[in-house]
Amino acid sequence: MFARKKIAEVVAAAVIAIAAVQCCYAQFPGGPKKPTGPWMDKTLTPDQRAELVLKAMTLEEKIQLVHGSGMPGLGPTDPAAVRSNGGGGFVPGIERLGLPDLNMNDSSVGSGGGARKGRYSTAMPSFLALASSWNTSLARDFGALVGRELADQGYNISLGGGVDIAREARNGRNFEYLGEDPILAGNLVAQWIQGAQSQGVIGDIKHYAVNDQETGRYFANAIIDKRVMRETDLLAFEIGVKQGKPGMLMCSYNLINGDWGCENDYTLNQVLKKEWGFQGWVVSDWFATHTTVKAALAGLDMEQPTSRYFGAALKKAIEGGQVPVERLDDMVRRIVRTEFASGIFDNPQPTQAPDVLRGFKVAQRTAEESMVLLKNDKAQLPLNAAALKSIAIIGGHADAGVLSGGGSAQVDPAGGNAVPDPKSAHDLLAVFSQVIFHRSSPLNAIRDTAPAIKVSYEPGTDLDAAAASAKKADVAIVFVTQHTHEGGDLETLSLPDGQDALVQKVAAANPHTIVVIESGDPVLMPWAKNVTAIVEAWYPGIRGGEALASLLFGKTNFSGKLAITFPASDSDLPHASVPAPPGKKPGPIDGLLGPKPPFPAVYDEGLKVGYKWFDAEKKKPAYPFGFGLSYTSFAYSDLKTTGGATAEVSFSVRNTGKRAGQEVAQVYLSLPPSAGEPPKRLIGWEKVELNPGESKTVTLKIDPLYLSIFDAATDRWTIVPGEYKIKAGPSSASLPLIATVTLKGSSL
Ligand code: BGC
Repeated sequence: MFARKKIAEVVAAAVIAIAAVQCCYAQFPGGPKKPTGPWMDKTLTPDQRAELVLKAMTLEEKIQLVHGSGMPGLGPTDPAAVRSNGGGGFVPGIERLGLPDLNMNDSSVGSGGGARKGRYSTAMPSFLALASSWNTSLARDFGALVGRELADQGYNISLGGGVDIAREARNGRNFEYLGEDPILAGNLVAQWIQGAQSQGVIGDIKHYAVNDQETGRYFANAIIDKRVMRETDLLAFEIGVKQGKPGMLMCSYNLINGDWGCENDYTLNQVLKKEWGFQGWVVSDWFATHTTVKAALAGLDMEQPTSRYFGAALKKAIEGGQVPVERLDDMVRRIVRTEFASGIFDNPQPTQAPDVLRGFKVAQRTAEESMVLLKNDKAQLPLNAAALKSIAIIGGHADAGVLSGGGSAQVDPAGGNAVPDPKSAHDLLAVFSQVIFHRSSPLNAIRDTAPAIKVSYEPGTDLDAAAASAKKADVAIVFVTQHTHEGGDLETLSLPDGQDALVQKVAAANPHTIVVIESGDPVLMPWAKNVTAIVEAWYPGIRGGEALASLLFGKTNFSGKLAITFPASDSDLPHASVPAPPGKKPGPIDGLLGPKPPFPAVYDEGLKVGYKWFDAEKKKPAYPFGFGLSYTSFAYSDLKTTGGATAEVSFSVRNTGKRAGQEVAQVYLSLPPSAGEPPKRLIGWEKVELNPGESKTVTLKIDPLYLSIFDAATDRWTIVPGEYKIKAGPSSASLPLIATVTLKGSSL
């Protein structure tokens, strides 16, 4: 039996080998050369096709596929890079085999990669905004929009999909990530990736892993306990990888427990590839490769953007036997298999101008569903267009546009920066910190929404003038901004540039003061009790002004809830400051090109990330995770749960107010004390849409993974036997429904 199977395998392998050798060209009369190798057969599986094309490749061709070709403006580039589409990464294809050029572009919040590219794409709200929508189908639409526009612009690989956990509230890149909860973030990124890949481009997930700060990002050594890592940062990736099935994963700049993210055997080989069964390829973050042999053996499959370690050096290591050729074959197999599976091999897409109108629609809906109403005293909002005579708008460049986050995520602002930033426009190093506003003016949108109201604008630089204009108006709306960007973290969550004083001054002049925040991280609000309403608008994208006006006047209802805790002070955060090396604070590119001795970033808050910290330490946040108000009200009742091997939860949500609205109904779990967990964790949610008086039953079957703890001794996810409390309600701090279930112990 065994022998017959073996013979069959050998014959099959021989057929493949002969077919591969007989390839590759056939000259079509009058047409271009097209490969005729057996991998062109679309009826074969991606795995079969990958095997066939791999057999036809020379060593040089294999090496060509596993590194980038340089970066415009940063040293010599591969001659083939003339074909590059100008994105962040380029790998020349192999024409004789039909393997396409790989054109990668940053796409955290739209097809971006920095300003000054001169190409239009929809500037979407930030990822943190998306997370605050808690809407998985919206995440899919967002991803599909970005995927489409990447393809329209001639890219076939996304460099988006950021899902590092907001462990550090001051992280300059939190706006590119999906908040502080791994289950929320993981589910959203999975849908985003699925959406992007539905458009025939290869999706990415990044930055793997524990890339939770920008301070010293090229040489920070994240010190994190194995169980903690698995239940926090890695859990978001686990869900994203398993459900989203991205074709590519980007490993991170930092070290994790002493090994660089891109040469970390534990995270790459053992967890990602072996345990999660990831079939795509691992690409290094830009210049995050540090060795040839170690990185290759630890699971890195592609170096970007250059060939320093995975070009001639890798070839030498293969020839010298330090890296087995099977490992190189595995790298290439992963890449070409993904090319077949994603459709980029068979279906190159024509470039075309992005569908601006569709982009506007998805961008506006995302902004509307993600803005969070934090305070609304005396029903200050919605504004009554028929009753109000005057509104004073103050500050935040609200006359010109809305703020965006900086760095590789930056989408080129249509029509140029609405508020030109002369400081950094021509300074290469300052490109990431450039402050860019998209031309969606809240002032204009408010005027358009309520043409009968007299709407004035004051920049807010002169406090007395601001107060005077506020005093004359029925309502004052102050816009405040907090710019965050790749390559640096905030020192404090306090608003910069005297904006707190501006709000206090306006609030003293007008008892109907509304504050709109545009931020990439939480902000401190020492003035909160002095104003009547507060809206967190995040970086709201190209339709941010219009979305905001619609919400302020009640044309749409608020339904966003915080995906990140807003602390009452910096000192309530787990660390007094962002972990940094001793001495001078590192600059944005320190350690990028010249090596620097790593410094420890000790994440000793452990499992207590975000709201789990505030719960466990009994610190009251200013605004808790999961919190957000609506123009209507909701009541929760009838919690039913079942235990056993896993948990099922159902309860009813009723709209008890006078307006239609959407409620993000949330379910949390308190584990038995023997589990050694923080007081509670999010395990499920549903965004339900309800008309006044209407009620719906929410039924959730909880994934056993979400009930488990990671047992570091056995390397298994485990459900601890015992009594669990299941709690449901409108936010992490308000959970009116509570039930007890008994779960049987098991290992997944
Ligand atoms: C960033 C990545 C980005 C890459 C390419 C790096 O600096 O960390 O997120 O995809 O550059 O632009």
